[in-house]
Amino acid sequence: MPDTTDQPVSFPTQPRPDRAAVLCGLAGWLPPRIVTNEELSQRLDTTDAWIRTRTGIGRRHIADPGQATSDLAVAAGRRALAAASREHVDAVIVTTTTPDRSCPATAPLVASRLGLTGAAAFDVSAVCTGFIYGLASAASLITARVADSVLLIGADTYSTIVDPQDRTTAIIFGDGAGAVVLRAGDAGEPGAVGHFDLGSDGTGEELITVAAGGSRQRSTPGPVDPGDEHFAMRGKEVYRHAVTRMAASARATLTLADCKVDDIDRLVPHQANLRILRTVADDLGLPAERLVVNVDTVGNTGAASIPLALADADTKHTLQPGERVLLTAFGGGLTWGSCLLTWPALPRTRHPHDSGGTRAA
Ligand code: COA
Repeated sequence: MPDTTDQPVSFPTQPRPDRAAVLCGLAGWLPPRIVTNEELSQRLDTTDAWIRTRTGIGRRHIADPGQATSDLAVAAGRRALAAASREHVDAVIVTTTTPDRSCPATAPLVASRLGLTGAAAFDVSAVCTGFIYGLASAASLITARVADSVLLIGADTYSTIVDPQDRTTAIIFGDGAGAVVLRAGDAGEPGAVGHFDLGSDGTGEELITVAAGGSRQRSTPGPVDPGDEHFAMRGKEVYRHAVTRMAASARATLTLADCKVDDIDRLVPHQANLRILRTVADDLGLPAERLVVNVDTVGNTGAASIPLALADADTKHTLQPGERVLLTAFGGGLTWGSCLLTWPALPRTRHPHDSGGTRAA
């Protein structure tokens, strides 16, 4: 239940025994343009070696001028629906930090462009934890019998908010979209989305922020600093929080599910930074080979990060049906969350870098 103390706590949720949300389609989509570390080092005071050593990132995909988050979301969503062999879902959720507009939400437009006008459609905003919050929202719609099927899309175009001259953020973030289709099923079947742990701590609002553009800025008289339009991050503090919050949330989820770290076949964390991911795995006592990593080829793609990592691992056969998979994420807010599921059998399709990555049960 909500926190009543000064200490932030997590909000645990349990699956219902009689009905569960089951993963039945997965897809990733990346804009074709690739920006390498070498390209960045031509315009920023940085080097490929520095970026690789500090973040593990080698390249990232960047949207073309004029390409908005909904364009990426539609591409991923279309492939996920095709993978699930579905033309219709009851609800569409888009989770993003870079919506097309501050009003209205991006999801209704995405739904209509997918031929889903009439479906419930709304956005979820939890920065890099968005996919886990979106997954909990989608699963809750299904277990509460509000919907029988949901399309959940994590999509972000960080290139539209990052200052291209800021070497501390421009090297980290990339653009992309990942989508899953969930259907009503049984809690015991593979693909059933299991236990969740969700949490937040708003006292850390300033650690990851875009200061301008919201009601706080518009209700304050005086000129806006042009820098406030850009994404700002206190890297060192974020690093520390990311490690401790993801590890703690992963542990909380294991406790809820009555599982041990040894029971986990794959840990799929939000792809923030390779050092962060390795430290989380180390902290949990999880062997490094069970860690799923694709940050080297896509960077930090925000809400798209986990579904893109899942699509990448699935097409590379890193994820096998029946494996116990633990998802964990941390993001601005501060927010964090984790989810446990058993991987379903999905037919083979294209890799996300091959402008696809669709898989279906
Ligand atoms: N290239 C070269 N040098 C850089 C640089 C870059 N791209 N960015 C920063 N530096 C410099 C700094 O200016 C500093 O120089 P100084 O020692 O002369 O002052 C030096 O490198 C060390 O900077 P520091 O900030 O201590 O580096 P770091 O090891 O903490 O790495 C981050 C910086 C941003 C990579 C790291 O803090 C990080 O990954 N944080 C978490 C980011 C994240 O994952 N965010 C998303 C969470 S959802």
